Amino acid sequence: LDNGLAIKPPMGWMHWQRFRCVIDCETYPDECVSEDLFRKMADIMESEGYLNAGYNYIIVDDCWMDKNRANDNRLQADPIRFKSGMKSLGDYIHSKGLKFGIYGDYGTHTCAGYPGSLNYLELDAQTFADWGVDYVKLDGCYSDPDTMVEGYAAFGNYLNKTKRPMVYSCSWPAYQEPDGHEADYDALKKTCNLWRNWDDIDDSWSSVSSIIDWFTKHQDRLAPHSGPGHWNDPDMLIIGNYGLSEDQSKAQMAIWSIMAAPLIMSNDLRAMKTEFKNILLNKEAIGINQDALGIQGKLIASNKKVNLWTKPILPKVDGYFSQAVGLVSNRTDGFAYLSDFKLDDIGLDAPNGYTIQNIFENEKMYTIPPHGSISARVPPNGGVLLKLVPIPKKHL
Ligand code: GLA
Repeated sequence: LDNGLAIKPPMGWMHWQRFRCVIDCETYPDECVSEDLFRKMADIMESEGYLNAGYNYIIVDDCWMDKNRANDNRLQADPIRFKSGMKSLGDYIHSKGLKFGIYGDYGTHTCAGYPGSLNYLELDAQTFADWGVDYVKLDGCYSDPDTMVEGYAAFGNYLNKTKRPMVYSCSWPAYQEPDGHEADYDALKKTCNLWRNWDDIDDSWSSVSSIIDWFTKHQDRLAPHSGPGHWNDPDMLIIGNYGLSEDQSKAQMAIWSIMAAPLIMSNDLRAMKTEFKNILLNKEAIGINQDALGIQGKLIASNKKVNLWTKPILPKVDGYFSQAVGLVSNRTDGFAYLSDFKLDDIGLDAPNGYTIQNIFENEKMYTIPPHGSISARVPPNGGVLLKLVPIPKKHL
């Protein structure tokens, strides 16, 4: 969507994967979906370096609403869990230098059964603007997939009419693709800044790897639609939760970076172990994700169950792009075997070779000659992320 926003993949934090629809604040006072939760996360985003690293949106997902609209038909927040109201929460988030995201649904109800926007598209767009919202995730539960292309565009026009810049995250492909209907990606690019293509992520490696597999299977169809202002969204980063080991977390970060995916964390920032925090805050990985070209990388080689993706990035040296290279091993037979990929076989043809840096390990940078090979030890279900920069021709 050409609205000047999401020129790079959006980054931030969203409550859904970790905190779901926990509305029982008596049993879970510190974890229920409430203004306190978002205020705490905003505090930590600002004080612990997430905002500085680029994670700047705090997005309230489903279950923030009251079960009924107000007398004037406006959406309203749950009066107990969000007792100060959404405008006030937005003000707080803004006071930390962060941006405020919110969730709605294009159908009659949200996925968790709260009021949908179907007959109130204009009013709800205006309400979000009045509250100072900067990012809207519009879900598609309880609606007819055949009406989505037009309906989402209508809501987008109402967002635009408010004059408040708001990133627009759409979900319609996630309701069409699983039924075997290829979504209209040209319409998506025109209407939305990002879109969920596929299933919800859960807290496990099998969920992460099934999502990677789906995006890889459809990469030739999806990748051309990724770029500044419009992104495919494989769903949240679950790093720091229960389900992923440290190596699996590196794999998620590596592939999300290679895919130019939105980096929206869903985790408990109050309880992050250092090793996970370091992966999320890794400057080089974020730099690859946020590269200005906005190219979605692709899987281009496999060798003994180790898959290799490449993503062209800047800088360009003597006409040759730098490259991010991601490796994920699906082996489970033992340990981190050494994998070799010849540069010639993966299309890396800079005439003087490359310098190479292993992003998550503190190895020294080294060089590969032209026609040389990439060698890396890739742990089972683990990810390695490399950055290759062409060596310039020698100046006389
Ligand atoms: C759908 C979405 C999720 C989340 C839930 C909320 O499943 O895909 O990301 O927003 O609804 O109910």
